[in-house]
Amino acid sequence: MIKKINTKFIKLIKYYSLINHNLIYENEAINRYKINSNLAIKSSKSGELQALKRLIDSIKNCELKKNSTNIVFSDGNPNAKIMIVGEGPGANEDLEGVPFIGRTGELLDKMLSSINLDRDNVYITNVVNYRPPENRNPTEEEIARYLPYLNKHIEIINPKILILLGSAALNAITGVNQVISNVRGKWIDKKIGRCCTSVIASFHPAFLMRQPDQKKMSWIDLKMIRKKILELKINIGK
Ligand code: URA
Repeated sequence: MIKKINTKFIKLIKYYSLINHNLIYENEAINRYKINSNLAIKSSKSGELQALKRLIDSIKNCELKKNSTNIVFSDGNPNAKIMIVGEGPGANEDLEGVPFIGRTGELLDKMLSSINLDRDNVYITNVVNYRPPENRNPTEEEIARYLPYLNKHIEIINPKILILLGSAALNAITGVNQVISNVRGKWIDKKIGRCCTSVIASFHPAFLMRQPDQKKMSWIDLKMIRKKILELKINIGK
């Protein structure tokens, strides 16, 4: 008799966990489809990022990779609508495997914070993912070799605003040799794979450390970014 009741009780529990409790008691359905689809988007993004990182990590015969300690893939929030592309890792970044963490990174953080941004609402990567020896600039061949990975990276993140810091990032993305001072302070609409984004180029923080008088121009660009964030109604979560 007791065994029969127990079996019935267990069946009842199973039944209630199968049906929508809210529908019965609150007259309101749980939107399971929406919750699951959000999770699906996020997990597919992180899966794509992991796959891309593995792909870059499997590069063969690369001088940059041979001479470096770690791959420097990215930092920040993969769901951010603002993406920043720098040039390539320096010594600190190479040791830690994280972009922009040395003195250059400190200046970048200050620049971001001046327009209410930080690494929780931006996503950061570089043109090349391994440190160029002696902090030299990446060569044109190296930039070309890493460009398909960078394009894929941008496509996965799908930012509404893409900030190119320095001429390596500018030239990689536009495919034209230009100097930052001639193209900074302008928005360009660009399609990279499936991603349609507003692009702005500005001075690299390492350049600003060498030429502090250019910080006033950089500030103009930062204010343009702040304005664009408002125009595009980007939620920076603050
Ligand atoms: N400079 C860059 O361009 N990227 C880094 O990650 C660090 C310094």
